[in-house]
Amino acid sequence: MMGSSAAQVIAGAPTGIASAEASVLLGLEAHAIRVEVCCTRGPAFFQMVGLAEAAVREARVRVASSLARLGVLLDEYAITVNLAPADLRKSGAALDVAIAAAVLAAIDLLDPKSLQHVLLVGELSLDGSLRPVTGILPRLDGAERRGIHTAIVPRESSAEAGLARGVRVLSAETLSDVVQHLQGKRQLPQVPRTSFVPTLSEANGDLSEVRGQGSARRSLEVAAAGGHNLLFVGPPGSGKTLLARLLPTIMPPLEFEEAIECTAIHSVAGTLPLDSGIVTQRPFRAPHHSVSEAGLVGGGDVPRPGEVSLAHHGVLFLDELAEFRRAAVEALRQPLEDGKVCIARARARAWFPARPLVVAAVNPCPCGHYGHPRLPCRCSEAARERYRSRLSGPFLDRIDMHVTVPPVEVSALVRKAGGETSAAVRERVIRARECQNARAKRLELHGYLNATLPHADLEKVVGLDAESRRLIEAAVNRLGLSARAFNKVLRVARTIADLEGEERVRAAHVAEAIQGRILDREVRR
Ligand SMILES: Nc1ncnc2c1ncn2[C@@H]1O[C@H](COP(=O)(O)OP(=O)(O)OP(=O)(O)O)[C@@H](O)[C@H]1O
Ligand SMILES: [Mg+2]
Repeated sequence: MMGSSAAQVIAGAPTGIASAEASVLLGLEAHAIRVEVCCTRGPAFFQMVGLAEAAVREARVRVASSLARLGVLLDEYAITVNLAPADLRKSGAALDVAIAAAVLAAIDLLDPKSLQHVLLVGELSLDGSLRPVTGILPRLDGAERRGIHTAIVPRESSAEAGLARGVRVLSAETLSDVVQHLQGKRQLPQVPRTSFVPTLSEANGDLSEVRGQGSARRSLEVAAAGGHNLLFVGPPGSGKTLLARLLPTIMPPLEFEEAIECTAIHSVAGTLPLDSGIVTQRPFRAPHHSVSEAGLVGGGDVPRPGEVSLAHHGVLFLDELAEFRRAAVEALRQPLEDGKVCIARARARAWFPARPLVVAAVNPCPCGHYGHPRLPCRCSEAARERYRSRLSGPFLDRIDMHVTVPPVEVSALVRKAGGETSAAVRERVIRARECQNARAKRLELHGYLNATLPHADLEKVVGLDAESRRLIEAAVNRLGLSARAFNKVLRVARTIADLEGEERVRAAHVAEAIQGRILDREVRR
């Protein structure tokens, strides 16, 4: 059908100017792009202006081939595509469909009015089919504010697009479908709301498989309840890796709002789960210790989220912490403090949320037996010192709980496994979180998890009695705690009280929290 009308156009219809609405991503933010196309008769060329990078410039090949499939040949036209605003760098292939539609409107095969207030998102294959692009959710989010009422997205992105609010979203499989819809010949299907059902992280096993290690298990529970970062220190084979991998199994299921943020981040990174198309489970990320700084915190020419953002609302596990590049670990300091990563670029700045629960594991020395109750440590003092110096002090200062994982007791090993299940612990974690949430609402706090409450709010939620104060003062003197570490003790004590359902923080809670800082001196010195 398009073939015959195209022939008529080429035979003598007027040429002109048209525009279509598109977007480019910078971090998690979508910026509005207007694709303006001017077509005149004349020696064939297809030029693109407006700070287009290689992948965008190559759109010309994909667009020409896709239009040829519709019977529209561009070889009699001089085509200029302007991507406005001109000062914003454009990358990626998501502008293809918008460029193709604007070209068709400029050569009069589409009514330019049909492109008004319609956001077109998608990459084109040479055969004219629509390929999914990254960051559908952030592109749709906020489209309403720029006057968009309808968005057309690739069919494969339907699950993600179905989470968007505000605009009507239609899905298409081919450019031909899009064109026929815009010509009013055939209606594209509307993307249904994606139903969100959180899934629990069971892949890593169940807490009931861990033998003994009561205090390490307890620290996992406290960490999950209050959102506290955690460091495990212990000899090889004591179960540090095993325990850390079980942390997601005791965290509450992902909430809808959290799932939207996680889906947006993973969509931009191109790491959405293939089966569901959206994130339904708390992420668990365990990057290898050879990870670069950009890999860990994010970066790149076109800013991409790093592991710390991919683990947002989930767990970031740094196993064998001493083996990580120091610069990479140090780069985590700012995100751990602010809960987000900012990546500065020449003209703009991208940011990604980054609030994972961080759990790290490390041996106490190179041979791993320093402090072992039965095995002697073979390391020299100098070797131990070198090993410790690989750990970044300022990073450790940001970890709320430092926990010793002793070797597993023989008696525990020979006993049948059968401790509490992840589900039972998760129930307590959920209750402790509800308790924090209710208090945050009652006191109008600026946050809710104890680990991330602003400092001013911390004072409102932890009133220490005289005994607790004496205890904590003694600990500061004995352990040489920094002001930050002192506050972390208070936060952890608040969570321990919440797990017991107590309104006030008592000395016993503070004492348990202080246990979690004793390693300060051991590990760092
Ligand atoms: N408390 C435990 N209960 C049950 N199994 C355990 C326990 N601790 C260790 N194991 C078993 O030993 C294996 C090794 O444990 P894991 O890898 O967690 O040790 P690790 O502390 O991380 O050691 P490394 O310092 O060498 O990394 C686990 O896969 C698990 O099978
Ligand atoms: Mg390990």
